[in-house]
Amino acid sequence: MSAAAPDTIPDIHALLAFYAEAGVDEALDDAPINRFEERAPQPAQPSHQHEARPQAQRNAPSQPAAPPPVARPAAQPAAVPDGQQIAFARELAANAATLDELRECMAGFDGCNLKATAKNLVFSDGNPEAAVMLIGEAPGRDEDLEGKPFVGRSGQLLDRILDAIDLDRSKVYIANVIPWRPPGNRAPTPQETEICRPFIERQIELAGPKVLVHLGGASAKTLLNTTEGILRLRGNWRVYTGPSGVEIPAMPTLHPAYLLRTPAHKRLAWRDFLEVKMKLRALS
Ligand code: URA
Repeated sequence: MSAAAPDTIPDIHALLAFYAEAGVDEALDDAPINRFEERAPQPAQPSHQHEARPQAQRNAPSQPAAPPPVARPAAQPAAVPDGQQIAFARELAANAATLDELRECMAGFDGCNLKATAKNLVFSDGNPEAAVMLIGEAPGRDEDLEGKPFVGRSGQLLDRILDAIDLDRSKVYIANVIPWRPPGNRAPTPQETEICRPFIERQIELAGPKVLVHLGGASAKTLLNTTEGILRLRGNWRVYTGPSGVEIPAMPTLHPAYLLRTPAHKRLAWRDFLEVKMKLRALS
């Protein structure tokens, strides 16, 4: 076979740069999977739920005992979540009596298609006893690999912001609205958000912080049930109302990833975190 002419050889660096720009930053399988394909409903398999987990998770060290089993709806085609999965997530979350139980039931939950492409469940970091809980949107690549929220570049900026108000990860509790990385860091869909909502709501309830900080518009809009944009929301105290009726003062602020792209707005975030510092002082 004759060698390709130099001007037809693909520039591998340009191709990789194109993929990275498009959010395609890892190879998952040799062959593509059609997740829209209709599949026959599977019978309920409450006691074998881990069989459906990705290889990496099945090989992970085993976790503490799961909460009492809850009747599981028949598996749905992965890309077609529905109200049944939301109801199931709500039931599982309500049955978790501790944060460890909640983590365990989320690890076994197969009703959100994001889990199929994520490497790890990203449950939390920091101190669950902390007075302040920070909530982001969804894990990125670094978080997915480590199984911890905010460990990448935006996490490093978050650590510097916390340091500026004398906090660190031993004094805050951190989680995301969505605990599985959306492929290519795309925005989670409304269905994915609604399926995951019962888990983050229960996580807030079980951690019981005195103050919430919403990192970015997605977290603020989802949990404060508003459609207002983050630039309007930020800097003003709101009240988060949980499903049980619990009310927690909540400060929406700019997402650290946004601040990395828009450093001129760091001064706004600085003001928001000073508000948080004063609120914590007033509540202590
Ligand atoms: N962005 C988020 O919203 N959460 C993370 O954990 C990391 C980046």
